[in-house]
Amino acid sequence: MRQLLVAPIIFIVFSQIIVRIASPMTTSVSTNPSTLLPLELVDKCIGSRIHIIMKNDKEIVGTLQGFDDFVNMLLEDVTESEATPEGRRVTKLDQILLNGSNITMLVPGGEMPDT
Ligand SMILES: *[C@@H]1O[C@H](CO)[C@@H](O)[C@H](O)[C@H]1NC(C)=O
Ligand SMILES: *[C@@H]1O[C@H](CO)[C@@H](O)[C@H](O)[C@H]1NC(C)=O
Repeated sequence: MRQLLVAPIIFIVFSQIIVRIASPMTTSVSTNPSTLLPLELVDKCIGSRIHIIMKNDKEIVGTLQGFDDFVNMLLEDVTESEATPEGRRVTKLDQILLNGSNITMLVPGGEMPDT
């Protein structure tokens, strides 16, 4: 159920991204984003930096190595930023497997807003 709610949000985000990706090379990418599936759009982000905003106010930036049908993701060179009572806690990690169940938004090419 959670996946079903999240999927349209991801689609909206990525339909904007595909415009950004498509503009420099319009011949190889469809000009109509609605013909692409959300997971095909995530696939285009492999090897790139991606900014992930989680439901529990945690933000993660990393290089996308891979993902599955649930949008669980394998990330490298990760910076995790988490709200705590003492302020934001930033953690650096070499590699993580991120459970996709609490993702609310994916922003390709994004870095942490405050770094
Ligand atoms: C997802 O978020 C809920 C509440 O925000 C939390 O209880 C749960 O542990 C989280 N699940 C994962 C896999 O992070
Ligand atoms: C992600 O979290 C959900 C709910 O907590 C769990 O059912 C699922 O097995 C987890 N997936 C992975 C890849 O750990």
